[in-house]
Amino acid sequence: METIGVLTGGGDCPGLNSVIRAVVRSALKNGYQVLGFRYGWKGAIENAYIALDDQSVSGILPKGGTILGTSRTNPYKNEGGVDKVKETFKKNDLKALIAIGGEDTLGVANKLCQEGLPVVGVPKTIDNDLSATDYTFGYDTALNIAMECIDRLHTTAESHNRVMVVEIMGRHAGWITMEAGLAGGADVILIPEIPVDLNEVCELIKQRHTRGKTFSIVAVAEGAVLKEGGMVADQKLDQFGHVRLGGIGNLIGEEIEKRTGYETRVTVLGHIQRGGSPTAFDRVLGTRFGVHAFALAREGKFGQMVSLNGAKIVSVPLADAVGELKTVPSDYYELARTFFG
Ligand code: F6P
Repeated sequence: METIGVLTGGGDCPGLNSVIRAVVRSALKNGYQVLGFRYGWKGAIENAYIALDDQSVSGILPKGGTILGTSRTNPYKNEGGVDKVKETFKKNDLKALIAIGGEDTLGVANKLCQEGLPVVGVPKTIDNDLSATDYTFGYDTALNIAMECIDRLHTTAESHNRVMVVEIMGRHAGWITMEAGLAGGADVILIPEIPVDLNEVCELIKQRHTRGKTFSIVAVAEGAVLKEGGMVADQKLDQFGHVRLGGIGNLIGEEIEKRTGYETRVTVLGHIQRGGSPTAFDRVLGTRFGVHAFALAREGKFGQMVSLNGAKIVSVPLADAVGELKTVPSDYYELARTFFG
């Protein structure tokens, strides 16, 4: 019986379990056995896995997170990490490994492929910032959570005549903020792609209140930067060199209150956006990705990643997915501006 491995790396997101289930169900049907490596590349380094059978993936479709666990471990940043991963492939006689992750996890997958390991990728991230796929699973769930939070903030903002600033995830790409803001009717949307002009933001809010509106909602991505300088982050780096973001909402909230005189409150959505049950869209996309990823593994199409292109699932080189981030285009942001103020 041939063996394939599967792992989930990077930040978790709703829909990961749909992919794992689809990989396992397709593999078992085709006479393969599946090893699920624990905590992303950490499990591949340490040869830590669980054998996945029909029972292990039963009832996991509605579950958020990942039954395999995840981490931001980078084999290239761990002493002897890559050799240990190679050892794991040998020991278990892996025909293929399906790596489910974002730019970091897939970046490692791409490098390992170039070193001759049989790896296939599946794109995930709530940020939807991976190139070479129209959507990543996890995004739709996070977007709907953020939209619902904006809806909830509206009612309390209106009752108290307040400005509500809501800080939404998105390090370098403002997709969740942009589309949750559009769907939830935010009055100003601030994303990492466009430096924030605080004077303009305050002016928009003032004009809005002059028109008789008594409250405002400002949606800001955690990675937004101020024109007048400053991105808010602590200095701790993870193994992929990312700083931990958070705090831009508070900074903007304080400035709005100071500059406009309107009472302002700040809500940071944080990891709430990554938790809970996936939407139908993410379950179905994850399921389709999983079935196609197994097919790529079986056909020996290594170095490829499954991708959504329109309504179709296709495969693209991993290198295309990790080369450049997919950010919000400026003409889309211009469309959003129609609704500012
Ligand atoms: O990449 C997904 C993401 O949720 C980003 O939006 C966010 O900046 C980051 O992960 C948070 O990472 P962690 O879970 O390590 O705090």
